[in-house]
Formats: sequence, C-alpha cells, structure tokens
Amino acid sequence: MRRPLIAGNWKMFKTAEEAHVYAEELSRRVSGVENREILVCPPSVYIHPLVRAFADSPVMIGAQNVFWEDEGAYTGEVSAPMLRSLGARFCLIGHSERRQYFLETDATVNQRLKASLKAGLTPIVCVGETLKERQDNTTIERVSSQLTNGLKDVSTDDASRIVIAYEPVWAIGTGKTATPEIAQEVHGVIRSLLAGIFGAERAGLIRILYGGSVKPDNIDVLMAKEDIDGALVGGASLDAASFERIIRYRG
Ligand code: PGA
Repeated sequence: MRRPLIAGNWKMFKTAEEAHVYAEELSRRVSGVENREILVCPPSVYIHPLVRAFADSPVMIGAQNVFWEDEGAYTGEVSAPMLRSLGARFCLIGHSERRQYFLETDATVNQRLKASLKAGLTPIVCVGETLKERQDNTTIERVSSQLTNGLKDVSTDDASRIVIAYEPVWAIGTGKTATPEIAQEVHGVIRSLLAGIFGAERAGLIRILYGGSVKPDNIDVLMAKEDIDGALVGGASLDAASFERIIRYRG
C-alpha cells in the first residue's frame, strides 16, 4: 500500500567530480531494483547534472531546501518551480540542521511545504525531538506541534503526496540510532496525529521515513517495523556501496 522510499541526504558534501563518479557507480549498483523508490538529495548545484546522470536508472533526485516564493528579488534562494524545471522530484523541508543553523521554524516549513506542493514537488517534512526534549519526556509534544503547525492548511487531497521523516536530533550523525522499538513507537504516534489532521484513510497512505544513523547493519530491523516506510540516510548514503546495501534492505 505504501511504497517504500529510501532517500539519501548528501548534506554539503562532494565535489562535482565525486558526484559524477558516485552517480555512475550507484546507477550500476541499483539497476533492476524494484518495489521501492530511490532518492538522492545532493547540494542544489548538482541537481541538474545528477538528473541527467541518473536518467536511465531508477534513482530520482531531490533538493535539500526550497524557498516559498516562485520568483523575485530574493538573492541566493531557489524556488520550487525552478527545482521542478531541473527535474527534481522531491524536496527536504525543515531538516533539523536547517532549524538549528538557518532559523527554520514550523511557520517557514509550512510556507515551503505549500510552495512545493503547488509546483509538483513531493515534500519530505522532517520532524524530531532533541536529546533534552527526549529526556524531559516531551518528544510527543514536540513532534505533534511540528506536524500541526508545519502541515497547517494543507488539503486532504494533497495529504498523500506528503512524506514525513522522523529524525530524532540526538540520532543524527552521532552513530546513535533509535532502536526499532523507539522509532516504531513515534512513527505510530505520528500516524495517529496524521489521522487526526487528515482522517485515518489518508493517514494510512502517507509514508513516514526514519532518519538518524541509518546504516547497512540496522536498516533491515528498522524496515521490519509496521509504520516505518523508508529511510532518510545521511552519512551512509555518501558511499555508493553502503547506500546500495541500505536500498536493498531485506524484509
Ligand atoms: P545521518 O543523517 O544518517 O548521518 O545520521 C541523517 C540526516 O540528517 O538526514
């Protein structure tokens, strides 16, 4: 019912030459992979070359951020129609690094989300609690407010086009993965929160990815969980061989 999605987030890594070599290698490694969607989100300067390099492979390309206006005097920004015109299909929104370093808020997440939907990009909305919030037992509160405010005024018709990524901030780049049980628990809560917003039927169609130190050796147990519909992979997506193993998870 929900097609698994394995997404790689390169963050700010790789030169143009490295991106090119990676694309050749990953295309070769994943040719013939079926029954799951594969996505790479490189720095935006590599979107166009990578769309071309992956043209004959199942790998799709996404952006790591998007601005909410279509065009205008906004030096340094890139809009959703621009990304779409380059061949990008997805867009990460509200990644914790953007919330932390670039003052992203739930309100701007909401603006970026609406702009993406309007332009035909599939938004991947990232939510997740900090270590302090987990220790204070406010995880659910935090994730709930990120979802309610981030998804504000999105129509029920658009709901199934949205992807959610649950990324506990304490698990990102730290080597500390949430256990499959912890991840499933929050994913289950996210699904019920989505049911509260869009109704149970629509919520059942929305993919919820797990992100935070996903590696070849933990992907299988994570994907075995009922409400984990895919992964958002940072560090381990930078190497084509380890990303291939994650894409080819067993289960
Ligand atoms: P990580 O990053 O896999 O390196 O922990 C995940 C992410 O930030 O999306």
